[in-house]
Amino acid sequence: MEQLIEKIKNDGSVLSSSILKVDSFLNHQIDPDLMNEIGSEFARRFSGSGITKIVTIESSGIAPAVMAGLHLQVPVVFARKRKSLTLVNDLITASVYSFTKQESNEISVSSKFLSENDKVLIIDDFLANGQAALGLAEIVNKARASIAGFGIVIEKGFQDGGRLLREEGYRVESLAVIHSLKNGIVEFEITEEG
Ligand code: G4P
Ligand code: NA
Ligand code: NA
Repeated sequence: MEQLIEKIKNDGSVLSSSILKVDSFLNHQIDPDLMNEIGSEFARRFSGSGITKIVTIESSGIAPAVMAGLHLQVPVVFARKRKSLTLVNDLITASVYSFTKQESNEISVSSKFLSENDKVLIIDDFLANGQAALGLAEIVNKARASIAGFGIVIEKGFQDGGRLLREEGYRVESLAVIHSLKNGIVEFEITEEG
């Protein structure tokens, strides 16, 4: 997605050879026009897939997921990382391992919001090692809903997540794929617009 790639080039910064900082439009401050375009692009790529629901994870997945939900006209559910006071019954959970923190955390969704009739699009801001994405897939599978695919805003192609998901047979649509962050330079992979 050209507009997103331009935004990353202009406003992103390389923190290390593996971390891209995009807090001025995605992870802290949010650019609503860009999110709207991102949602529209996800909707275009998954139109005709019979999506009934979008599932994402707090916090940075929510903005692109809501915009995709608006364009696809389906509800958006976000998995929680901490247990909510009012959300205690019938939780579907998955354990997500973080390589950076070297710890596992439970993520959860109420079973009330997923059913076996749902066809789910899973959206997240970043795809790195894929552990969060796999955790979300586990939750959707536990609910016996089906997974239409993954919509990722920024995939880091040099980490394993994309390969893991595609090896599992999932459709993965990433709007920008980063090939390398070496020497402080963002190099993109050439992707086919799906
Ligand atoms: P990891 O084990 O590879 O570290 O991945 P993990 O899924 O635990 O990711 C930790 C957090 O870092 C996630 O956000 C993820 O979206 C984010 N992340 C991974 N790679 C990058 C990157 O290159 N740049 C940026 N900006 N973020 C990255 P989170 O902690 O869940 O935070 P949030 O969703 O509340 O923002
Ligand atoms: Na994040
Ligand atoms: Na995220």
